[in-house]
Amino acid sequence: MLDPDNRVIMISGASRGIGLACARELAGLGYRLSLGVRNPEAQPRDGLGDDLHVHHWDATDKASAAAWAESAQAHFGRIDGLVLNAGILLPVDLETGDDDALDQMWQVNVKGPLALVRAALPALRESGHGRVVILSSLAGKRVLGPGNFGYSASKFAAMALSHALRQAGWSDGIRATAVCPGLVETDMTEGVSPPAGQFKIAPETIAATVAYALALPNHASVAEILVNSRLELAI
Ligand SMILES: NC(=O)c1ccc[n+]([C@@H]2O[C@H](COP(=O)([O-])OP(=O)(O)OC[C@H]3O[C@@H](n4cnc5c(N)ncnc54)[C@H](OP(=O)(O)O)[C@@H]3O)[C@@H](O)[C@H]2O)c1
Repeated sequence: MLDPDNRVIMISGASRGIGLACARELAGLGYRLSLGVRNPEAQPRDGLGDDLHVHHWDATDKASAAAWAESAQAHFGRIDGLVLNAGILLPVDLETGDDDALDQMWQVNVKGPLALVRAALPALRESGHGRVVILSSLAGKRVLGPGNFGYSASKFAAMALSHALRQAGWSDGIRATAVCPGLVETDMTEGVSPPAGQFKIAPETIAATVAYALALPNHASVAEILVNSRLELAI
């Protein structure tokens, strides 16, 4: 496995939820972190290391991707990994869903991560063992119902981003992994109850999964990790 020592990881949307859990897990393992968030002043910093870099990034502002990556590179002199975590879930039903909400999810769940990948690629290539982990979803693997069409569509696109990157970066040692959780206990799923007798996954469990993917050596590419809290026939 790769040694975290000295390696620099960028995490998008580390203000709360899975992103904050990832930041705490990775800092605890010894990685140096650059966090891209909408409001740097409000970013929790406890337990995230002495040399923490926090920069403004908004998925709806394309220019902020390059600005964040340049600032991280200038601060640390290297970028070894990118955790594409920030995302939104809006209800867009197949028949009645709102186009505007669909556009917002396309922007935050697909175009924002794409801009970050493009901005960080040169540094990831230089690293020789660049890692990209995208927080997709089981909704990016199967459609649970027509009411979830819009979110699923954006997460299927996130899967395409991960697989295309795996191909584009292969010869330079870049490995991309899509982590696909089911229901996780965060603000995003507030008010969503799992079916009787079933559970939500702790964000710390997903953070440990992300850490596993980041540490894999170049000769062990894991393209997808599916994490369900309940029994489904296909997943
Ligand atoms: N929770 C689940 O059950 C679940 C399951 C599968 C996959 N996922 C995926 O896991 C990822 C994290 O989800 P979560 O549950 O931790 O969600 P969350 O608690 O709602 O947190 C979302 C994060 O994304 C950031 N964000 C939202 N819009 C943004 C924008 N325009 N620009 C920059 N940052 C933005 C938020 O920042 P602010 O604090 O500024 O709003 C926050 O840090 C998402 O991609 C989600 O789709 C979640």
